[in-house]
Amino acid sequence: MIDKTSQDNTMQKIVSLCKRRGFIFPGSEIYGGLANTWDFGPLGIELVNNIKQLWWKRFVKDREDIVGISSAILMNPKVWQASGHLKGFTDPLVECKKCHVRLRADHLKENFNNQCPECSGKVFTDERQFNLMFKTFIGPVEDETATVYLRPETAQGMFVNFKNVQDTTRLKLPFGIAQIGKAFRNEITPGNFIFRVLEFEQMEIEYFIEENGWEERFNRWQNEMEKWLLDIGIKKENFVVREHQKKELSHYSKKTIDFEYKYPFGQKELYGLAYRTNYDLTAHKLDLDGYVPHVIEPTFGVERTILALLCDAYSEDGNRVILKLKPSLAPYKVAVFPLLANKPELVAKAREVFETLKGEFTCAWDDRGNIGKRYYAQDEVGTPFCITCDFDTLQDETVTLRDRDTAKQERIKISELKTALRGKIA
Ligand code: GAP
Repeated sequence: MIDKTSQDNTMQKIVSLCKRRGFIFPGSEIYGGLANTWDFGPLGIELVNNIKQLWWKRFVKDREDIVGISSAILMNPKVWQASGHLKGFTDPLVECKKCHVRLRADHLKENFNNQCPECSGKVFTDERQFNLMFKTFIGPVEDETATVYLRPETAQGMFVNFKNVQDTTRLKLPFGIAQIGKAFRNEITPGNFIFRVLEFEQMEIEYFIEENGWEERFNRWQNEMEKWLLDIGIKKENFVVREHQKKELSHYSKKTIDFEYKYPFGQKELYGLAYRTNYDLTAHKLDLDGYVPHVIEPTFGVERTILALLCDAYSEDGNRVILKLKPSLAPYKVAVFPLLANKPELVAKAREVFETLKGEFTCAWDDRGNIGKRYYAQDEVGTPFCITCDFDTLQDETVTLRDRDTAKQERIKISELKTALRGKIA
């Protein structure tokens, strides 16, 4: 059993690694930050893009029954009225009467034992429902008629385009519409790094079915989601499936399960799978001659995927930190070094190798410090392979190829590098 302090330490180490090596920076940092906003840095965005591309390939490109769309973030407010979000997308909010901090009423009970986490106060205002949608205005006048909302889920873009997609693709049930895009929520709870943020990306599928047999479709999607998690490298023992109790269900759902991940700060939601019945298509009153399809919705948060990947991959071996990301997801696939930076012939040879590889593999270049430090620096960001050009390279056109996880080195011909890497990274 890991104690609370070491859990906090692990989280701190991950947050600091992310900042130090360019995965994730605090949002608007030079102005003192903005709570619950974060920016992806050069390595973070590579990881994000790798995840999004893999997801799109698996669930859209490789399947005949799912097509993609990308809908607008701003939608007619009638969408949110019909979907029930204007009325139902709320959290219960209380305010501490002493320091005026606002908290979610359920979190106050569950996490803080009815005591204010800021000032230890015990007197709170009555609970009131707080809508999580961000508001903004179209045009110069900030009044009711100009109000629009930043979408709190990408799902509604799929529902309002259901008929457009069906008419243009001629897909027959069962079929799905997928989307990757930003969603926004005015969260009032502290974020735990990128776990709960104001602005995040969702990868969602609305899978339209006939009502009959929905349980079987639901189970199939549960298996697909589990397979995805295992395939991106999340260890089986680190996630669990939990079914929502009746009182937890969203206003549109008849059955929901969460995939929960064991983050260092506790076991919490990673992904969701919901049976939304025909609630949404009925609510939007689409002109669908006849049957109104039901829908199963697998939903995947990008930020939580990245957080789970980082937590799962983070490991230490003495002083050495290794991010054991799956090679296909790692920001850099390979790093290339000249053994010594002050030998122009070694630098030129290493450059040549770097140039040959970089069109196909995301490559890092490093010629600073000693070779051991360079290996460690690459281990820490998850680069699965390092290539070093040394004096033998100049004689026999071979290099050392070092493996991140075993630290083993093998000698390999430059002409065989690409094929070897392809095999190892696939
Ligand atoms: N369309 C269904 C829907 O939006 P949700 O469970 O509210 O369901 C889906 O959100 C996923 O989006 C979550 O499983 C999580 O991965 C991610 N998510 C939700 N709120 C988030 C937040 N504030 N910060 C980061 N990710 C969030």
